[in-house]
Amino acid sequence: MKKVSRVELIKTLEQELSYKRFIHTLSVAGTASSLAMCYGADLEKAETAGLLHDCAKCMDVRKMQKVCEKAGLTVSSFEADSASLLHSKAGSVLAAEKYGITDPDMINAIRYHTTGRPGMSLLEKIIFVADYIEPGRFTAKNLPLIRRLAFSDIDEALMKILYDTLVYLNSTGLVVDPMTQKTYDYYKQIFEEKTIYD
Ligand SMILES: [Fe+2]
Ligand SMILES: [Fe+2]
Repeated sequence: MKKVSRVELIKTLEQELSYKRFIHTLSVAGTASSLAMCYGADLEKAETAGLLHDCAKCMDVRKMQKVCEKAGLTVSSFEADSASLLHSKAGSVLAAEKYGITDPDMINAIRYHTTGRPGMSLLEKIIFVADYIEPGRFTAKNLPLIRRLAFSDIDEALMKILYDTLVYLNSTGLVVDPMTQKTYDYYKQIFEEKTIYD
């Protein structure tokens, strides 16, 4: 399928998403582009993955399940009823099937934007971090620090986001996707090794 143009993509997303989600989407795309400029990543890929990261967020959760199952993606029992856990998986399928994205790195950046995963690429880190720090976010703690870190050491920003997310989820009793913990453990180990041997 043909890749959708930038203008077409933005127009479609404006229709598919709630106004609030659409504004967030534009903001993530802008932040991801800035991070790509800072780290020398592919600007177009960062902007497009930013635009698409929440493309499934406003779908009905049953439809998200169907989209994932049809594409052969396993949906775990705790994911099944949670739009906040399932939208990234469903979004990665839509990115390919509806918006013609073929680049595996962009697909992964969308698929893992809420949990991260061990061994993330630079683009995956950019989308994960951009989603957390875009200018419209204001409730998470340590945002001024994380925003500064994002542009000086993206790995350090990633670690801080994972840590703060786990602390927040555990304190509120919300469901923690095991992948978030797995990603944190993986990067904590790398980070500690880096600090010891630097
Ligand atoms: Fe999301
Ligand atoms: Fe988002």
